[in-house]
Amino acid sequence: MKILRTPEAMRSFSDRQRRQGKSIGFVPTMGALHRGHLSLIQRARQENDCTVVSIFVNPLQFGPKEDFNRYPRPAAKDDRLCRQAGVNALYRPTVAAMYPVGYATQVEVRGLSDRLCGRFRPGHFQGVATVVLKLFEAATPDRAYFGEKDFQQLTILRRMATDLNLPVRIVGCPTIREADGLALSSRNAYLGPEERRLAPLLNEALTIGAMLCRKRGMTPARARSAAIRRIQSIPGVRIDYVEVVDPETLSPVRRLQGPMRIAAAIRVGKTRLIDNIAAFCDD
Ligand code: PAF
Repeated sequence: MKILRTPEAMRSFSDRQRRQGKSIGFVPTMGALHRGHLSLIQRARQENDCTVVSIFVNPLQFGPKEDFNRYPRPAAKDDRLCRQAGVNALYRPTVAAMYPVGYATQVEVRGLSDRLCGRFRPGHFQGVATVVLKLFEAATPDRAYFGEKDFQQLTILRRMATDLNLPVRIVGCPTIREADGLALSSRNAYLGPEERRLAPLLNEALTIGAMLCRKRGMTPARARSAAIRRIQSIPGVRIDYVEVVDPETLSPVRRLQGPMRIAAAIRVGKTRLIDNIAAFCDD
């Protein structure tokens, strides 16, 4: 496995692969790899000749009061997991290589970035769109793999790829969960034992909401309220949002119809958890 530290080194690796007629599958991450990331790597390996993973904790997507400094960075373990998973190149740029002195450009996907998590994390999705465009520019992938766990991120990146005519297919992959339903996330490591025990109630609440969305005569408001009530059974929980949204525009739906997404963000102690699941109504 090659380890690459600069955009130039990454780009020349990818150019070499392409000259050999190889397709490139790319899995951008912030490290602290778990089974969710490994499922993306596995899919990339199945569908491409060469698999590139990036690990970069992107300062641009963290707010001033967020967890950039304490975000887990188990570098040696991540290297080992990538090697074991059959990754061909690990792109691990430094902050200085990504954002040299004087760096001033940001990418903004308007509208989509202001909804759901965007209301609570101003600037977050500009940071994500900017870094992903820069990572794409260096890795020049044919396909890039993102988990549905970050559904808003996936939607925004699809929009960016379409709007900027990027020659990459954005592939959304199913959320990987613990046996009790908790969506895998590097941030789950922050949860204390009691918080960890209660955290699966988030997925349970969304499942209740999605089931109600199917029911004749139900409204989005009632489905949402039922999910909120379940979440409120977590002592001390704070709810950022629970919404039933259109899966493309991410706007709250007015009536239950066709494919939808029920999405939530909550704070359990100091940990922010997000989750979402598909909902459908064929009324
Ligand atoms: O989902 C993530 O881990 C990050 O937001 C991403 C896409 C790697 C950009 O930093």
